[in-house]
Amino acid sequence: MIILGIETSCDETASAVVKETKGKLSVLSNTISSQVKLHSRWGGVVPNLAAREHLKNVFPVIEVSLKGAGVTPQDIDLIAVTNGPGLIPALLIGTNAAKTLSYLWKKPLIGIHHIEGHIYANFVGEVKSEKLKIKSNGIKFPVLCLVVSGGHTQLILMKKHLDYEIIGQTLDDAAGEAFDKVARILGLGYPGGPIIARLATDDAKANYRVALPRPMINSKDFNFSFSGLKTAVLYEVKKNEEALKNKQFTAAMAREFQQAVIDVLIFKTIKAAKKYNPKTIMLAGGVSANRELRQQIRQAIGKEMKNIPCVIPEFSYSVDNAAMIAAAGYFRFTNMPASQKRKLFSNWKKLQTDANLKMASFKIPQRF
Ligand code: KG4
Ligand code: ZN
Repeated sequence: MIILGIETSCDETASAVVKETKGKLSVLSNTISSQVKLHSRWGGVVPNLAAREHLKNVFPVIEVSLKGAGVTPQDIDLIAVTNGPGLIPALLIGTNAAKTLSYLWKKPLIGIHHIEGHIYANFVGEVKSEKLKIKSNGIKFPVLCLVVSGGHTQLILMKKHLDYEIIGQTLDDAAGEAFDKVARILGLGYPGGPIIARLATDDAKANYRVALPRPMINSKDFNFSFSGLKTAVLYEVKKNEEALKNKQFTAAMAREFQQAVIDVLIFKTIKAAKKYNPKTIMLAGGVSANRELRQQIRQAIGKEMKNIPCVIPEFSYSVDNAAMIAAAGYFRFTNMPASQKRKLFSNWKKLQTDANLKMASFKIPQRF
């Protein structure tokens, strides 16, 4: 089975072709056109500007991904597109492109939740873990997944495929959002995550010592809060605005902020793992591209949860991409009864976008 994935929920226009053979997924092409440079001038993503760029790029990007995969439209068995959550003007471009192709090519079309896509990035290709090399379909359930992106921070328990129980989440800002806001406070530009991560490695000789709180680390639940951390950085900066000119200050602040986020994420993940006894721990979302987080969570799980593999997507599948959307599309499709599969052929007129789409566990219709 061959799946075409399309993703335009934020500032990347992405298309990918994923092939399934005997339940294993391999990526034939993964094309991403990033708008980061365009939006960095404005300090964040401007929705209408994003839509204009998506419109210009979406069909060329799809064409490149088809050519790169060496497939023709006839070879495609399913089109999967992100239909939420995200920026509506941006989502509309990808979904409308997918609807057009579904109509013209007479292919089934499935809408995918962006975060479900991030989770399924872990089921693409060969996934490496600290202790064992496992194939994508070798991931064992229950899975405890730490989702850390620009809009979401959640601990999700998956007892099986497409089954999600949110056991904890942020009460305010998402982890990625906190990285972006703190970068803005420190005058570092957009997107904050990669800039802070780079700067954080730079402060070996820093004279500055800063200490930030670890919000909610001792709370009894599995929830998070990052907005106070951002305010604590702002407070430090307000005390001494001159310090912003000092690279050592911003580097020390970046490092301490990053460590505070990592400490809380790891502590809560391990605590949840001890309660729920998962067979696999997974990371998903843009912040999972953070090298320190990747390294430290692997170490912590290795030390405290000895026999549980920690699975993290490869860098190119951590950030927004369409291979993850195609992968999620495959798992949704393959679990559907035939009657539901047939309905996907009329999705070219029915599929809706939703800025606040909720991630729903997959349920087989009652009549089936
Ligand atoms: O998953 P993603 O690409 O988009 C959403 O679904 O939101 O995540 C984007 C977020 C941004 O907030 C960005 O600053 C953050 O992920 N991010 C990082 C890193 N790379 C991207 N955060 C920390 N360290 C990184 N290396
Ligand atoms: Zn994302």
